[in-house]
Amino acid sequence: MHTSLSEEGGFETIRAWLERTCAIHYPAAKRALLQQRLGRAQRSLGMISLADMAQALTRPDARDVQLAIMHAASTNHTYFYREKDTLAYFRAEVLPMLASRAEIRLWSAACSTGDEVYTLAIMIAEAFGPEALKRTHILGTDISAPVIERAEAGVFPMRQLEQVPADIMHRYMRPVGMDQFRISDEIRAACTFRRMNLKKAPYPFQRPFQAVFCRNVLYYFAHCDQIEVVNSIADVTETGGWLFTSVTENVRELSPRWQGVTSGISRKSERKA
Ligand SMILES: C[S@@+](CC[C@H](N)C(=O)[O-])C[C@H]1O[C@@H](n2cnc3c(N)ncnc32)[C@H](O)[C@@H]1O
Repeated sequence: MHTSLSEEGGFETIRAWLERTCAIHYPAAKRALLQQRLGRAQRSLGMISLADMAQALTRPDARDVQLAIMHAASTNHTYFYREKDTLAYFRAEVLPMLASRAEIRLWSAACSTGDEVYTLAIMIAEAFGPEALKRTHILGTDISAPVIERAEAGVFPMRQLEQVPADIMHRYMRPVGMDQFRISDEIRAACTFRRMNLKKAPYPFQRPFQAVFCRNVLYYFAHCDQIEVVNSIADVTETGGWLFTSVTENVRELSPRWQGVTSGISRKSERKA
């Protein structure tokens, strides 16, 4: 097919599409990284050029191309028991408040392969006993389809489990081949995974969450999208509920709907901005 876009024009079209549609912002300094990642997506799709891929992106049947670009452009690094201070706060301050709830509802927005989701489920089982998992719903969502598939499979390589204490490994993981471990069925039953784009608001949840984890993703977004996302999360969080970001992401500066507790931890205020 004839294409009127240059390679540079194709790259720029895709870069702008990523920001507009997925909130994923690549600053000029990360241009080479995006080029390398898009090159990978281009080869996996069997496209001859970025210009070709950019044109395919806007066709009505562009779903596969869009998914490949979304996956290629995202950084999926994650692991169990990430940022232990945050988890210590969750254990000490949040879990006691959830002890008497008929239902525990948590959301890991941008969960990648689900390590955070399973970590939270394990923490609930450890705090309240495995029975509590029956009244626990932890949703994990991510824009990338391949990571959601891996999260659903619940099988992880040892390198993602290095921070898991030995007794927890013993209770909730079973070896399934070379360096691979499967999460126990009782933990998996409390966890659900869906593909979802944080740029698409309002978020489709009927009942509010008590706590939302949106860690290590906001810093990939432009400032205006960070504001949109934390406000949209406030819409689906109960008043007084928690938002966990990474320690470098300051939610209080983004929206008056969140009150800072400490680095990376906020609570939803009464005020509707
Ligand atoms: C570095 S991982 C963070 C995983 C986990 N939250 C953690 O802290 O370990 C960032 C994830 O954000 C996802 N992501 C990027 N843009 C997104 C968007 N617009 N909507 C949903 N997920 C997105 C990526 O696919 C990636 O899996």
